[in-house]
Amino acid sequence: MMKTHTCGELRESHIGQTVTLAGWVNRRRDQGGLIFIDLRDRWGLTQITVNQAETPEAHVNANSARNEFVLQVVGQVVERPGDTKNADLPTGQIEIIAQEINILNTSKTPPFYINDDERIVKEGLDESLRMKYRYLDLRRQKMQRNLMLRHRVIKFIRDYLDKQAFIEIETPILFKTTPEGARDFLVPSRLQPGKFYALPQSPQQLKQLLMVAGVEKYFQIARCFRDEDLRGQRQPEFTQLDLEMSFVEREDVMVLNEGMMIALAETIMPQKKILQKPFPRILYKDAMEQYGVDRPDIRYDLRAIDISDLAGRSGFRVFTDNVEAGKPVRAIRATGLAKGQSKTGLKNIAKEMENLARDAGAKGLAWLSIPEDEEGEVAGFIGKYFTVDQKLELIETLGAEGGDMLFFMSDSDEVVQAVTAAIRPVLAERLGLLDPNVLGYCWVIDFPMFIWDEEEKRWDPSQHMFTMPLPEDLHMLEDKPGETRGSQYDMVCNGHEVAGGSIRIHDREIQEKIFPLIGQTMEHAREQFGHMMEAFEYGAPPHGGIAWGLDRVAAILAGEPNIREVIAFPKTQTGSDVMAGAPSPAEDKQLDELHIAVRELEKET
Ligand code: AMO
Repeated sequence: MMKTHTCGELRESHIGQTVTLAGWVNRRRDQGGLIFIDLRDRWGLTQITVNQAETPEAHVNANSARNEFVLQVVGQVVERPGDTKNADLPTGQIEIIAQEINILNTSKTPPFYINDDERIVKEGLDESLRMKYRYLDLRRQKMQRNLMLRHRVIKFIRDYLDKQAFIEIETPILFKTTPEGARDFLVPSRLQPGKFYALPQSPQQLKQLLMVAGVEKYFQIARCFRDEDLRGQRQPEFTQLDLEMSFVEREDVMVLNEGMMIALAETIMPQKKILQKPFPRILYKDAMEQYGVDRPDIRYDLRAIDISDLAGRSGFRVFTDNVEAGKPVRAIRATGLAKGQSKTGLKNIAKEMENLARDAGAKGLAWLSIPEDEEGEVAGFIGKYFTVDQKLELIETLGAEGGDMLFFMSDSDEVVQAVTAAIRPVLAERLGLLDPNVLGYCWVIDFPMFIWDEEEKRWDPSQHMFTMPLPEDLHMLEDKPGETRGSQYDMVCNGHEVAGGSIRIHDREIQEKIFPLIGQTMEHAREQFGHMMEAFEYGAPPHGGIAWGLDRVAAILAGEPNIREVIAFPKTQTGSDVMAGAPSPAEDKQLDELHIAVRELEKET
């Protein structure tokens, strides 16, 4: 090895030892006869002191070194003089008096500050520059921390599952379509002209086949590929912890995964607080009604409460007409939002929320504020449409108190949900309720099996086509597909879906009933999934599983807003790798071998 110690390792106990370090110049300060270099590696920083009088050769090299040069330093560990000790640095008690400095490599001036995360946060850093020079971006302390955290997450999972008798099995990347609701990435076959592999959107089919194979407890840190629009926390290739178990019911899979997630979070990020254990379980229909989304952020309450009955008795026409037409009226109580606000302040908040509601498809957003003391008055124009008793009833129903602001939504169910989803996080932000040190995990269960696709005029699986209906709903599958609930369970953290799974259909007959419902002819289904249906005829055990979005789990634990921050080489919003320049045109020779002709793009557009 070219080093005896790391740059984060040396302490007072090493004083007197001669050591060899190697790393990058993080910073260099020239004080004439003395040069100070902060040498950096993955583990930290160590101060090197080079004295011109005592080691003139080392001084010459230190003098020519610049930021990001690669150095090897031989020297003695000494105690730093009293006033130069640095309590903020783990190695801050000592320094190395250099005897020898070897320049292992030089470096061009980097395109951005690698050594100053604070400055980068303050000044912002051009995303495309970061991506182009990702190998330099990854040298930054924060990114090194993220890489290490991800490693520890994966290591923890492997050890945890190994102890529980799971085995990790790799499944092919070149495979056949495994739909999870996105487009497939296709790979042309050279050996079989005109035919294509599909990259797996998940190992779903293969893990089910492993259950038929008698594996019983499988997992994989699995790469998945989905050609979809890269909004939010999505990447075209991402990593799942994929897991499947035989002879289990929904409860078994949920309990195992909840236990593993708690143990993981408490080991990797003990400073973060898990909001509620065991994780609360929220029915899909309640999540949609109260949070407006199927991945609620439960760190804050701000739920939409149904007040249709009361609002239907008010004097406000919009409410009474809507209630008569069977449309809901729901209210959100924003605790303390009106506190200390002037009338104009209240109106401004209301305007901001109303704009969000309009963007979400509503015609408006009514509001009320509860006075902080007895002399104060209720503000908000709809106040006059409620009698005093109705106002008291409202306050009681919502548990409202002085200084609260109430928002009222009424429209179709979908619009009210969309408005709920739009204003909750903004209110939470205003109220300072988005605590990054809290992990608000919950489960969402009892999803509908299917969602109606109005454009295609058919049902779409709400998870995927292998999900088993809830046993008590099985009888409705063909007659009332829209009312049938699936055995799906999603794990959510701080408003992100971090995992999703289900108990599977292991019975060919039930599986065959699903295909026509989702608009697949039996012929097409057999072509695509014949191997699955055949496998189910050879003693497929009851089984179920789940997959975690590992990138999302790592990002949340790291406190990062985007999964790009925990992926070494992510794609940009347009699916590009700007560092290597992918995707890129293929050579004519390659295309010929694959029997592919690329159409003129101008003709296409
Ligand atoms: P699902 O499609 O819900 O289920 O995916 C599981 C989890 O993977 C994460 N995820 C993503 N992360 C980053 N980029 C993406 N494009 C992306 N898409 C999904 C999410 C999600 O919860 N085979 C089933 C699992 C099962 O039934 O066992 C599946 O893939 O965190």
